[in-house]
Amino acid sequence: MRIVCIGGGPAGLYFGLLMKKENPAHQVTVIERNQPYDTFGWGVVFSDATMENMRAWDDVTAREIESAFNHWDDIEVLIKGRRMRTTGHGFVGIGRKKLLNILQARCEELGVELVFETEVDSDLEFPDADLIIASDGINSKIRNRYAEVFKPDMVMRPNRFIWLGSKKAFDAFTFDFRRTEHGWFQAHIYKFDEDTSTFIVETTEDVFKAHGLETADEQKSVAFCEELFSEVLDGAKLISNSRHLRGSAWLNFGRLICGKWSHFNGKSHVVLMGDAAHTAHFAIGSGTKLALEDAIELTRQFRNFGATPDKIPAVLDAYEEVRAVDVARIQNAARNAMEWFEVVGSRYADTLEPEQFMYSLLTRSQRISHENLRLRDKTWLENYERWFAARAGINIDPDGPPVPPMFTPYRVRGLRLENRIVMSPMAMYSSEDGVPNDFHLVHFGSRALGGAGLLFGEMTCVSPDARITPGCLGLWNDEQAAAWKRIVDFVHATTPAKFGLQLGHAGRKGSTRVAWEGIDQPLNDGNWPLISASALPYMASSQTPRAMTRADMDRVKADFVAAAERGAEIGFDILELHCAHGYLLSSFLSPLTNHRSDEYGGSHENNARYPLEVFRAVREVWPQDKPISVRLSCHDWTEGGNTPADAVIYAKLFKDAGADLIDCSSGQVSKDEKPIYGRLFQTPFSDKLRNEVGIATVAVGAISEADHANSIIAAGRADLCALARPHLADAAWTLHEAAKIGVKSIPWPKQYLSAKLQYEANLARAAAGPSPG
Ligand SMILES: Cc1cc2nc3c(=O)[nH]c(=O)nc-3n(C[C@H](O)[C@H](O)[C@H](O)COP(=O)(O)OP(=O)(O)OC[C@H]3O[C@@H](n4cnc5c(N)ncnc54)[C@H](O)[C@@H]3O)c2cc1C
Ligand SMILES: Cc1cc2nc3c(=O)[nH]c(=O)nc-3n(C[C@H](O)[C@H](O)[C@H](O)COP(=O)(O)O)c2cc1C
Repeated sequence: MRIVCIGGGPAGLYFGLLMKKENPAHQVTVIERNQPYDTFGWGVVFSDATMENMRAWDDVTAREIESAFNHWDDIEVLIKGRRMRTTGHGFVGIGRKKLLNILQARCEELGVELVFETEVDSDLEFPDADLIIASDGINSKIRNRYAEVFKPDMVMRPNRFIWLGSKKAFDAFTFDFRRTEHGWFQAHIYKFDEDTSTFIVETTEDVFKAHGLETADEQKSVAFCEELFSEVLDGAKLISNSRHLRGSAWLNFGRLICGKWSHFNGKSHVVLMGDAAHTAHFAIGSGTKLALEDAIELTRQFRNFGATPDKIPAVLDAYEEVRAVDVARIQNAARNAMEWFEVVGSRYADTLEPEQFMYSLLTRSQRISHENLRLRDKTWLENYERWFAARAGINIDPDGPPVPPMFTPYRVRGLRLENRIVMSPMAMYSSEDGVPNDFHLVHFGSRALGGAGLLFGEMTCVSPDARITPGCLGLWNDEQAAAWKRIVDFVHATTPAKFGLQLGHAGRKGSTRVAWEGIDQPLNDGNWPLISASALPYMASSQTPRAMTRADMDRVKADFVAAAERGAEIGFDILELHCAHGYLLSSFLSPLTNHRSDEYGGSHENNARYPLEVFRAVREVWPQDKPISVRLSCHDWTEGGNTPADAVIYAKLFKDAGADLIDCSSGQVSKDEKPIYGRLFQTPFSDKLRNEVGIATVAVGAISEADHANSIIAAGRADLCALARPHLADAAWTLHEAAKIGVKSIPWPKQYLSAKLQYEANLARAAAGPSPG
């Protein structure tokens, strides 16, 4: 085959040499506009997995790269006068120039034709080529020529960064955070050869502008950074080699995804590779790794299908299919890390203590978890666990085993929870006339015995017409109160768990069938009239509610107050006001469901006016030493609906009104929603609200392991973790998870003690693997 690579960066060179190595009969040319040794950038980092992959494909280059590598294990964080270090993080770095020189030399050795100092304008310059690799970097001319085919989606990110180097050899991957009179700057620093380090300085657009860096030339920018980071530089200079850049040396990162990666131009097949196809933010240093892995994958597909011109279309489809998934995974992790650095100043650096700040930094991509940190640096993690536990008020024996964050107690007002695990409210649709029965006693009783620190009852309705379904629980009469008291008393008398009451009104989502007979569908008969913020049905098949009048508001508020009073008498420990999921109070908060033109609609203040009125009335009758949490849908996942930025505004309003916690859920407001589900998918909302508003939060949604809960709580992304479905699957989720992570100090009910030892022994045996014979 005749192959032309346009652009001699890592992607073009590596693909060229791999294909030539596969079959020396291929004619391979790499065309590069720069001179052989004229290149930008400083050092690049790789993981062990990338190296292993490279070793399998061309051992010669892999060995050369490895011998030029600088390996380091430590991460050091400087902030607020503190210098903290952890080990076991295993990076390798190499200078970009060195890497390219190794690849160039290997290309020459294998017979790849290298053409330098030649600018390519179009793929049509190579009509004889069977395959053209567009490896011409992020500003790819070739990709831009066929933009309607490749559908590039480039998003320019808000932060500014400048890519510098230093002749100081840092012995750890160093993050230095500095506050100026205008805000925060951070430096990402890592050594890549004996005496040179990459030194990237990053800040937000407004801080960048406030310092006049917009008009500063390169020299001034470098001088500014040298002064700001003088302590860590310790007399060393910063160096710029961004002469190839036009305009400011400060860049915005552009996140690129392409809808399609290949195209037939009438003569040749053109395919994108490396930065021309996708970018990954430097926060996880994967741009070069992705470029090299693209080259490997395309070579692999030629090996699979056969490296002849007729196989090219199938090869390119397979290449795109495999790489798109991998790239999405890396971009996802890079996005978390990138966003962390975009908000780090005001969200974390200003608010978290240095120890917790460092934990948050280490887990920023959400790919490194608590147990993963334990594997990397047990001593550091255990010391952090002790620090965290001491903050939670536990007296820690410095020589004894530390207590993981989810098992530390939590205090709010007069409430003390034994641990941070919450059973999330879950409607069971199993009552008659709103009265809890034996099912509820067993349901809640067994979960209280199962170790959760706090149980929430399901949405408990404040009047008969506040119910979602005829099977929903209520608290509007004495019979219901007596039945609830039996359960709450059982939980208090038998277990250390605390019990929360979630009060709600279904609003426009009321008068429907129980879940297993047609969720959200109106009743076959016996429907009751609905009320909501506005007269908008939930679905086309739903009943249309009446927009609430002031008289409705007074009645419903009185119902909430009466239910709260009953709840206090019963002895519930915490009250949660259900303002989420499109139910009555939620319908006021979302612009999708609130179209009112009076003082209860139109702005955040107006939308929140009635929910806040209910909150204040309930707060007045609820005992002062007991907390109230508010459940919010922090994202409507629908065009025109609320986003986490709106949730921040609502959380502030509830905080000012006296709310103690925000329970951060999302969705179920509109049937048009397009939620992005996934592990811990709502935790970012909790993180945002907690650290931007300064209010305690509950994280919920696809949290399913102790490792998740520990990571969330340790990083300060939430104060409590709520789990719903995992508690249906396993009533003793908390006790079982404790055993799985080797925590033996969590008490089991005395009646079940003999099972604890057996359970732990079985886990230990399973972990040890099959016994011989
Ligand atoms: C300033 C800067 C510094 C960086 N430093 C690092 C770093 O330290 N660590 C890291 O992991 N990643 C770094 N990156 C990202 C990293 O360089 C890329 O992810 C990686 O190099 C992608 O490899 P590539 O081969 O796809 O593209 P590139 O490395 O960009 O290579 C593209 C090549 O094509 C050439 N070219 C472009 N257009 C034409 C044309 N029309 N004709 C001929 N030749 C052309 C370019 O000169 C270039 O050599 C940096 C990026 C930039 C912009
Ligand atoms: C069967 C079921 C019933 C639910 N009922 C309620 C409810 O009454 N009130 C509420 O706020 N959320 C309710 N939810 C939502 C859960 O509290 C929780 O936010 C959601 O299931 C995500 O958590 P998970 O991933 O741990 O299941 C319910 C969820 C389930 C699965």
